[in-house]
Amino acid sequence: MNATKRTTVIRSSGGHVPPQVVTNEMISRIMDTSDEWIVPRTGIRERRFVERGVGPAELAEHAARRALEKAGLAPSDVDLVVFATMTPDHYFPGSGGLLAARLGMSTTHALDIRMQCAGFLSGLQTADAFIRSGAADRVLLVGAEVHSGLMPWPEPVWDVMLGRSPGPCDPEWFAKATSMRDRAVLFGDGAGAMVLEANESGDGRGFLGFVMRTDGNHWDKLYVPGGGCKSRPYFTPEMFESFGTIPVVEGRQVFRLASHLMPEAVREVLAKTGHALEELDLLLMHQANLRINESVQKVLGLPDEKVFNNIQKYGNTTAATLPLVYDEAVEAGRIRPGALVGFTALGAGLHWGAALARI
Ligand code: ACO
Repeated sequence: MNATKRTTVIRSSGGHVPPQVVTNEMISRIMDTSDEWIVPRTGIRERRFVERGVGPAELAEHAARRALEKAGLAPSDVDLVVFATMTPDHYFPGSGGLLAARLGMSTTHALDIRMQCAGFLSGLQTADAFIRSGAADRVLLVGAEVHSGLMPWPEPVWDVMLGRSPGPCDPEWFAKATSMRDRAVLFGDGAGAMVLEANESGDGRGFLGFVMRTDGNHWDKLYVPGGGCKSRPYFTPEMFESFGTIPVVEGRQVFRLASHLMPEAVREVLAKTGHALEELDLLLMHQANLRINESVQKVLGLPDEKVFNNIQKYGNTTAATLPLVYDEAVEAGRIRPGALVGFTALGAGLHWGAALARI
C-alpha cells in the first residue's frame, strides 16, 4: 500500500438533538431577555436541551449509530473513535471511551479532543492524519455537547422555563440568570458524527488540505474561571456561588476575531490546495452567531446558495455544530458527490482553521 495515495473520505454522517425544544420565549420566563433581542443579534430562535442525567456520550451514541447505519457498518468496523467536546460527561475519563463502551467496543482505541468550537475541525485533521498514515482505515469522529449542564439554576427554575410549573420564576434566580443572559441564550445541546475512511481509488475524493491555527494569548476571551486544577482545591462552593463555573465570553471581541480569521483561513486553505474561491460549492461554518456567518459570507463574496446555516434551530452546539450542519446539508440535497466543500470554525483557545474536501 502506498500511503501517499491515500485520502480520507466522509463515508456517512449522522446527527442527533434531544427532543426538548426551548424557544426564546421559554428562556424569557427565567431571565430578562426576549425573542426581539435574541433573533436580530444572533439569528437563534430555539435550541434543544437534554433531560437531567443525559450526557454527551449518550447523545453521541445516537448520532454515531445513525452514521454507522447510513454506511451499513457495525461499530466493530471502526478502528478508532475520536470524541470532541468541551462539556464532557466527567472531568475524567474522557467521553470517547464512554461512547465506545456504549457502542459495544471494548478494545477499540478512543481519544478525546478538548478544542471547543474548533474541536470537530481538529478531529477531522486528526482522523485524516491517522488514515493517511495507515494507522487507521476507518475512524468514527463525533462532536457532542451538553451545554445545559453549565446552567446553574435549580430544577424548579428549569420547570418554570419548560412550562412544567406555572411560575413565576423565583426573583432571586431571575436576577442571577439575567446576569448571564448574554451567554445563556447562545448555546444548545446536540451531537453529530461522521464515519471517515481510507480511499485508495485515486478518484480525487477526500480531504485536500487543512489550515489550523491557535493563539493562546486570547485564552481569556472564552473560558471557565472555576473548576481547574490551577486552583486548589479545583472546585469550591464559593466558585459555584460566584458563578465561577459559568463560561466567560468576551462576545464582541470573539465576534470581531471570528469575522476576519475564518475567511482568512478559508482563503488560505483554498490557496494551499490550488483552488479558487469560485470553485467552492458550499462553505459550512461553525454556528456561533448568524451575524458572524453573514459577515464571513460577505467578506468572501459568497452567494446564498454556497452557504448553509442551522443555528436558528439549535443555537451554538460547539463541537457538534460542523457534523450537524454537514448532515443537514446532505439530507437537504445541498451536498452532492463530487462537490467541493469548505469547513471553517473558531472557538475558545483561541483555535481556528479551515478544511477543504472533495465529497
Ligand atoms: N437579552 C437581552 N439583553 C441582552 C442580552 C440578552 N440575551 N444579552 C446582552 N444583553 C444586553 C446587555 O446587558 C447590554 O445591555 P446594556 O447596554 O444595558 O449594558 C446590551 O444588551 C449589549 O450587550 P453586549 O454583550 O455588548 O451585546 P452584543 O451586541 O455584543 O451581543 C453577543 C452579544 C450576541 C454574545 C455577541 O457579542 C456575539 O454573538 N458574540 C460572539 C459569539 C460568541 O462569543 N460565541 C462564543 C463562541 S463559543 C466557544 O468557542 C466555546
